Amino acid sequence: MVQFEICPNGECLSDDQRAAALAQPSFGRQFTDHMVTVRWTEERGWHDGRLEPYGPFTLPPATSVFHYGQAVFEGMKAYRHDSGSIALFRPMANAERFNRSARRLAMPELPVDTFVRAVELLVTQDRDWVPPGDGNSLYLRPFMIATQPGLGFTHPSSSYLFCVIASPAAPYFGPSGPRALTVWLCDDYVRAAPGGTGDAKAAGNYAGAFLATRQATAQGCDQVVWLDAAEHRWVEEMGGMNLFFVYGGSRPRIVTPKLTGALLPGITRDSLLTLAGELGMAAEEDRMSTSRWQSDCASGALTETFACGTAAVISPVGTVRSTTGDWQIGDGQPGPVTHRLRTALLDIQYGRGPDPHHWVHKV
Ligand code: COI
Repeated sequence: MVQFEICPNGECLSDDQRAAALAQPSFGRQFTDHMVTVRWTEERGWHDGRLEPYGPFTLPPATSVFHYGQAVFEGMKAYRHDSGSIALFRPMANAERFNRSARRLAMPELPVDTFVRAVELLVTQDRDWVPPGDGNSLYLRPFMIATQPGLGFTHPSSSYLFCVIASPAAPYFGPSGPRALTVWLCDDYVRAAPGGTGDAKAAGNYAGAFLATRQATAQGCDQVVWLDAAEHRWVEEMGGMNLFFVYGGSRPRIVTPKLTGALLPGITRDSLLTLAGELGMAAEEDRMSTSRWQSDCASGALTETFACGTAAVISPVGTVRSTTGDWQIGDGQPGPVTHRLRTALLDIQYGRGPDPHHWVHKV
């Protein structure tokens, strides 16, 4: 494992300033006092691990990441339990996905233990920044960028910077709990194509999404739903989240689009597929066409839809809007199956329930 030098000096916010920030945490706008960095070069591999004050990087304008977008990231959270202890959720799964993303972008893989240690170091140093309260958390953003200066495009960068930063976060879609979202079916732009980078957490995937998200907002929607690149028929993802469709009844069945290589394999998605079985629900990975989504809502068979991801946890979808018309899902409000799954997941993350899969990682 890379050795870390601990250099925490620097200007930290006062206790009062931090308390003011934590009283109204706002996702991704405010950052804690420190960050962790590790460097990679062809000659030395991973080296120079440091916990240091949060601050700017100085990079030449010719640095590769500015031109060719060689950058990958992760999203994860630290939770404050009622007992006062702080816990991560499945950090090894994030480390493994980070390395799959890195491989796809021809970047070096970071040993899983170094990734997890970097996150633990930051959370330990800035533990007073983990906000108390249900739904609040410390959002962690590990990322890696290509740092070789030069515009040559014959080979990937020969140097990289890995960094973890942290931001106190309140519930992603606002303080009043999950409200049902209205989503826009995007039938002109696509997020990912077979063989592309859709199953990697590549920064460029998110850059390519902004225009369609702006289009969704212009249509009065909260988020965009992405369809497959070839037929514009199969539902893939929503914004930066995976989608689930609920067939209600005495034994509910939840269906999520199967991983085709164009979808991000969400860790929340994977956790819910496991939890559903334990809650007496059937869980399936399958294709879902927009026409089936609409007709199953019309017949009443499909009773709920929700999106899930680290930042947003579980967000109900109430209405679908498209160029060919709108439809409502169930009564358009958050449904009971969505609520049960959300509660079960949050109970594990906040240390309120049993953790049979050892997903909780105390720091
Ligand atoms: C996450 O859920 O952690 C994500 O990465 C989505 C993000 C773009 C906010």
